[in-house]
Amino acid sequence: MTYFDHSATTPLDAKVSALMREVAENHFGNPSSIHKYGQKACAIIEKSRRQIADALGVKSRNIIFTGGGSEANNMVLQNLLYNDKKHVITSAIEHPAILKVLKHLKRFGVSYTTVPVNKFGLVDPANIESAIRDDTALISIMYANNEVGTIQPIAKIAKIANKNNTLFHSDAVQAPGKIPLNINKMEIDLMSFSAHKFYGPKGVGFLYIRDGIRLHPMIIGGGQEKKLRAGTENTSGIAGLGLAMEMAVQNLNDAQNHLKTLENHFKNRFANIYPKAIYNGHPELHLPGLINVTIPSVTSDLLLVNLDMKGIAVSSGSACSSGTVKPSDVLRAMHISNQNNISSLRISFGKGNTIEEIDMLINALDEILKKYNRKK
Ligand SMILES: Cc1ncc(COP(=O)(O)O)c(C=O)c1O
Repeated sequence: MTYFDHSATTPLDAKVSALMREVAENHFGNPSSIHKYGQKACAIIEKSRRQIADALGVKSRNIIFTGGGSEANNMVLQNLLYNDKKHVITSAIEHPAILKVLKHLKRFGVSYTTVPVNKFGLVDPANIESAIRDDTALISIMYANNEVGTIQPIAKIAKIANKNNTLFHSDAVQAPGKIPLNINKMEIDLMSFSAHKFYGPKGVGFLYIRDGIRLHPMIIGGGQEKKLRAGTENTSGIAGLGLAMEMAVQNLNDAQNHLKTLENHFKNRFANIYPKAIYNGHPELHLPGLINVTIPSVTSDLLLVNLDMKGIAVSSGSACSSGTVKPSDVLRAMHISNQNNISSLRISFGKGNTIEEIDMLINALDEILKKYNRKK
């Protein structure tokens, strides 16, 4: 099998896996227990928090562990319930862990404005500024999009939020290992992360919370995570997350070069076999190694199934339900026609992929396009 779906999730790094196993087997104590077993588990959690804080250039106290990116986003948005001001500004192409939560919170008095994106999937900070109202409590704009990879101007947006006394949150789940995080260089108040997108384990992530911001817990019970997230900690997962984050930041330059090389190789070779390909997302401001390509006249479900039969895993933003293909909301928000929308593939490379594997993918696409006589 050849795996090109790293934006969905990444395989576990071997060093991370070895560490997690060691922690799970040997350091199983409850981190809240006062005996040595508990102290060791607690020390492992605090080491991970420090690794993350050092990697991001922030303080350990700014990091709260969660059960992943969705939980971190939910924690931020559900805190609006405690506010007098309950208006949020977000974008039309956020992950469902933002947009569906906001829709759900409407029944509890939260209101929101979704600013549009242009054909590259880019938010215009001026549109955000003009959407600010007296009751705006929060601006939440993702760092980079998971379907097309467009990187948003979050430093500018954070400035606008700060100037208008509004909190700024960014869903940065797709960013680590692909672009610099630079939290301390921007006026970020809250930022969500998830370990399984950067070769760490699933079901664990964290929320960065700037000094001075007080949140209420979403999960209530024991006093873990400074009373912000009850529940016995996932010690081995947290250990894996800390190491994965450290490696993502340390290896960023190499990873970027590798991903760009693979991306360029794909685009150059694909242009020879299929010149009609259209690339979605911003031509420069996009995540390296994430390709969203429209192959007009072949629907993505057909391509996905045929590639899968050849042992190649890619994905698409459109969903297949009861025999019909539902267009991707992200591509729709980018004003891409329905026909092109349902003919788009997301191919996301990772650190284990090679040029030979890209050649295999190109050959496989060539064969599939010939099989369906869609090369012209
Ligand atoms: C941009 C973005 N936000 C949030 C999430 C959800 O993260 P998790 O799977 O850790 O809940 C994802 C994962 O698909 C994502 O790509």
